[in-house]
Amino acid sequence: MCGIVGYAGRRKAAPLLLDGLKKLEYRGYDSSGIAVENAKGEIQAVKAKGRLIKLIELTSGGENLDGTVGIGHTRWATHGEPNDVNSHPHLSEDGRFAVVHNGIIENYLELKSFLTDKGFKFVSQTDTEVIAHLLEYYFDGDVLDCIRKVLNKLSGSYALGILFNETPDVFYAIRKDSPLVVGLGKDENFIASDMPALLKHTRNFILLSDDEIACISGTKVVIYNKNMEVEEKKPFFVDWDPETAEKGGYPHFMLKEIHEQPKAVRDTVMPRIKDDKIVLYDISLSAEYVKSIKKINIVGCGSAYHAGIIGKYYIERVCRIPVETDFASEFRYRSPIADERVLTIIISQSGETADTLAALREAKRLKSRTLAVVNVLGSSIAREADDVLYTHAGPEIAVATTKGYTTQVAALYLIGLYLAKTLDTIPQSEYEEQLKSLKNLSDNITKLLEKPEETQYLASLYYKNKDLFFIGRGMDYASALEGALKLKEISYIHAEAYPAGELKHGTISLIENGSPVIAVAVDKRLFEKTLSNIKEVKTRGAKVIAVASNENRAVENEAEHTLYIPDCHPLLAPVLTAVYLQLFGYYVAAVKGCDIDKPRNLAKSVTVE
Ligand code: G6P
Repeated sequence: MCGIVGYAGRRKAAPLLLDGLKKLEYRGYDSSGIAVENAKGEIQAVKAKGRLIKLIELTSGGENLDGTVGIGHTRWATHGEPNDVNSHPHLSEDGRFAVVHNGIIENYLELKSFLTDKGFKFVSQTDTEVIAHLLEYYFDGDVLDCIRKVLNKLSGSYALGILFNETPDVFYAIRKDSPLVVGLGKDENFIASDMPALLKHTRNFILLSDDEIACISGTKVVIYNKNMEVEEKKPFFVDWDPETAEKGGYPHFMLKEIHEQPKAVRDTVMPRIKDDKIVLYDISLSAEYVKSIKKINIVGCGSAYHAGIIGKYYIERVCRIPVETDFASEFRYRSPIADERVLTIIISQSGETADTLAALREAKRLKSRTLAVVNVLGSSIAREADDVLYTHAGPEIAVATTKGYTTQVAALYLIGLYLAKTLDTIPQSEYEEQLKSLKNLSDNITKLLEKPEETQYLASLYYKNKDLFFIGRGMDYASALEGALKLKEISYIHAEAYPAGELKHGTISLIENGSPVIAVAVDKRLFEKTLSNIKEVKTRGAKVIAVASNENRAVENEAEHTLYIPDCHPLLAPVLTAVYLQLFGYYVAAVKGCDIDKPRNLAKSVTVE
C-alpha cells in the first residue's frame, strides 16, 4: 500500500505535497518522492529511500523545487526493494511523463516484455515503471487519448497521478480499485489517497469512478468517463474536523484514537436509536428479506475479522441464525456457500482492503446480499456493497486499529439487535436492557479511560517478556484474539490467543515459571470453566493478569493482577475489554520505545492480496 498526493494551483507545490505525504505516511514509509512541473513544462523529480523526513531534508522542505503543479508518493514496497530507484515518481525515458501509483499492475511482466521489445530500457524493479513507458509509447499528440490507451492495457488496481510536460498547468488522476479523492480548493485543487490528508485545505471532495480520467488544474477539474465524455460530478462536503487528523497533544495517534472511542462509539450508535428502537437509516433490509435469511457470513481481515467473531457469537445468540466468520483472504478460495438467502457482512475500516474487496465481489457473484460495515466514506467496499452501514469513527491514522475496531463491534450489535427484533427472537425486556447498555457503552468507555495507571503499571512489569498468552472462552476468546494482535503488532512481543479450554491440548507445554497469561474472564456464564483453566496455567507457574467483570471478582483469588471493566450487559462487554487490551498493548510498546503509529512491516490498509 502506498499514499499519493497531487497539487495544482498558485502556491509552490513541493511543500504542500510533502505536507500531504506526512499525513499519508501511515500508508507506506519505506521511501518517498515528489515531482513538480514549472511553467515551462520542466519536470523535476526527487526521491529518497527511508522515512519521509529524508525527502524533506533533501528538498529543504520542498523550498528548493519550483513549480506550482506536482505529484508525490510515499511507498510501501511490493515490487522491488525500497530504494531510491524503485521509489516513485517514475519517469518515462524521454522525461516527459512522471507517474505516481498506488496499487498493483498485475500484467506488468507482459507489458514489460512488450516495451522491452520496442526498445524501452527499464531502470527499476517496479510494476509502475511500465506505465511511464507506455505513456511515452502511446503518445501521438493527444495526451488524453494516450492515457486512455494506457489504461486499456493495464489490469490490476491503481490510483495514479500523472504529470505531462506539455500541459504544465494540469496534472491527471485516475483510480481503479485503489483509493483516491479529489479535493476542491479555491484556485487550487488536490488529490490524495484519503480525505484526512487534505482536510487542512478543503472539506469539499469529488470521488472518481473506476477509470475516469480527471484533468486537474488550479481553477478546474474536468472528468472524462470511459467513453471520453465529460462527466459532471457533484462535490460532497465532509464534516470531519481537520483537528481529528492531528495528534492533538497525545504522543501518538494510537493513544489519541483510543481516547476518541467514547465519541466514535456514540456517533456510531446513537443516531441509530430512535424512540427506543434501532433504526438503521442507511440500509434497506426489508422484514421480508430478514425473515428469509438462512445463514450469515461475516468476512474481514485482521481486527475486522476479530470484530466478526464477536458478531458471530452475538448474532447467533440473539437471532438464532447460523453465522460463519471468515478471514477475507480465505473466503474466496474455500468455495463458500452462498445465495440470495445468505447475507454476507463485509467488515472493513478503510473499505479498501484488497482481500476484503475480493471477498465482497465473490459474495456478490454468488448472489448473496452484501452489507458492508465501513468507516471511510465512498471507499471501494462501501460503493460496491448492496448496503453500507457506516461506523462514524472519524479518520483513523495509527496503523493498529482501535476506534475502528470498537465501532465495528458496536455496528454488529446494532445489526444483530435489529435482526433479532425483526425476527422476534428476543424478548422485549431483553431488547430494552441491551439497548440501554448500548446507549451507555460510550460513558463506560470514558470511565475505563479515566484510570490508565493500573494498565501502565502492568505494562511496566511485563514489557521485557518475550511471549505472552491470552485466554478466554466464548466472546472472551474473541477479545483475547484482538488483545494478542494489538500487543504483537505494536510491541513486537510474541502473543498467542487461545480458547481457554483448548490450551491444555498442546500449547500449555509452553507455559513455564513466570509466563504471563492474560485471562479474559468477563462472561459470567463461563466463569467457573475459565477459572479452572486459570488454575491449570497457574499450577504450571504462569503469572495471570485477569480482565474481568465485577460479577467475577472471585478471579482475584487466582490472578496476580485484575483489571475490572465497568458494569454493562455481558454481551456488550467485549467493547470494554478491548479498550483495556488496547491500552495494555499501547503502554507495553511505549515503554519499549517502539514506533507505535507505524509498526515495522505493517500498513494501515492493505491494498494487495
Ligand atoms: C491491516 C491493519 C489492521 C486492520 C486490517 C483490516 O492489516 O494493520 O489493523 O485490522 O488491515 O483493515 P480494514 O481497513 O479492512 O478494516
